[in-house]
Amino acid sequence: MAMKMKHLLHKLPAERDLRAVPRPYINHSVELKKSFTPEERAGMLEAVGLNVFFFPSEMITGCDLLSDSGVTTMTGEQWAALHMGDEAYGSNRGYFMLKDQVRETFGSAFFNEPGVGEPNAFLFHQGRASEDALFSQLGKTGTDLIIPSNGHFDTTGANIEANTMHALNLFSDELAAPLSNAAFKGNMNVPALEALLEASHDRVPLVYLTITNNTAGGQPVSMANIREVRRITDEYSIPLFFDGCRFAENAWFIKQFEPGYADKQIKDIVREMFSHADGFTISFKKDGLVNMGGGLFIRNGGLFTKKYPHLPGMILDYQILTEGHPTYGGLCGRDIMALVSGLRIVTGCEYLTHRIEQVRRFGAEMSGRGIPVLNPVGGHAVYVDINRFFEGTAMKPDDFGGISLCAVLLAAYGHRACELGYFTFGRYDRDKEREIHPQLNFVRFAVPRLRYERQDLDSVVASMEALYENRDGIPGVRVMYGRELPLRHFKARFEFNK
Ligand SMILES: Cc1ncc(COP(=O)(O)O)c(C=O)c1O
Repeated sequence: MAMKMKHLLHKLPAERDLRAVPRPYINHSVELKKSFTPEERAGMLEAVGLNVFFFPSEMITGCDLLSDSGVTTMTGEQWAALHMGDEAYGSNRGYFMLKDQVRETFGSAFFNEPGVGEPNAFLFHQGRASEDALFSQLGKTGTDLIIPSNGHFDTTGANIEANTMHALNLFSDELAAPLSNAAFKGNMNVPALEALLEASHDRVPLVYLTITNNTAGGQPVSMANIREVRRITDEYSIPLFFDGCRFAENAWFIKQFEPGYADKQIKDIVREMFSHADGFTISFKKDGLVNMGGGLFIRNGGLFTKKYPHLPGMILDYQILTEGHPTYGGLCGRDIMALVSGLRIVTGCEYLTHRIEQVRRFGAEMSGRGIPVLNPVGGHAVYVDINRFFEGTAMKPDDFGGISLCAVLLAAYGHRACELGYFTFGRYDRDKEREIHPQLNFVRFAVPRLRYERQDLDSVVASMEALYENRDGIPGVRVMYGRELPLRHFKARFEFNK
């Protein structure tokens, strides 16, 4: 390089200010939105009983932050990979590529070479199907079983309970402390796990770690916590499984905030995380960067296969009965090709830094306007603390302020968010005729991967600011249908209180 240029580069400031850092991608194609008035949206919302899940996405003129799951904008390379999909019934070409990629990303013990060793890698059409496969078979191994976790996702908990086991959340103490800025609030509560295993280890067939912890504000789990949980589960010879949906985002937090990891590559951190797991379920709709896909992977020769040698065979039969041949397992050949490509992209540090900094900036902007968000902000979403949002207003816990906030935000400003709080995780006790409220009460603003730009998220912040200023005027809701149903948030209907 010419000396003059070298000198100039040296003198110019580095791109420290995030505003000066361009996105590490360009738009590959775009979709033009239709326009709708707030009145039209309000009319539609009333027609769907204020349940935002039933609101037509075509009418969303703002940001659709209902979920980060399956809503990734795929890269040009992934779209091209779809064309290479091999739709053979048995042993399509993508299956072998996926085998190599899973071995590369998570470790070779999680995908045995075909014909060598027991089947241990099971593909499913999405995450909950893999949970169902695991828990429906595990549930047969005993009675009155408990599966503890740092935070079960709603479908994970529901699949456990549907198979007559008890799903137990052992949230970290820092999570409930709004002023704590602990970097790894998603951690398992280790003393609580130790106490549980000391008292009832014979009732615990498996311990689960959700990384990152979606139910607990999308917070990450530290490597130290993973190691500690492994130590305890080893003491009692209990297998440790991950819910690994956001494995790459979790690794980014470890690199960023855990001593000793700053110089490590994301893919090495991922391998270290998974070196502690006996198996994992995963929805590839998150860090697989695809719109559909899931899997259950069991460590060859790990504690799970030693303790339950018959289960992999039972899971295989179950997979064939419910999904298809193990070499496609509920996925098209083209989906598998896009997934292979997604798994290659997701551990790229430039991609991850942009992704997570976008979410963190979104949260910081909300915080800056006084809106009570869970801090520090996690990897995939901003969580607004509904109890603090409505503090000092007439909103009561049974008015489900989170449900009404989502409805008003959608009607007035065209942005869709999702209640993950008293309604979603609570339940109605029919005998006592009262609501049982869970520990946490959030509205989640999940940011889809590679989809929105700063301007989009700024408009959500401005809308939330207006609602926060007018929070006194937001009415609560009453439940018109579905209060007593399992997974009631997907099905219920509401009306605003008069
Ligand atoms: C932590 C976690 N586990 C499991 C699932 C279920 O995955 P899927 O939606 O693919 O069934 C989700 C979905 O959002 C999740 O966030």
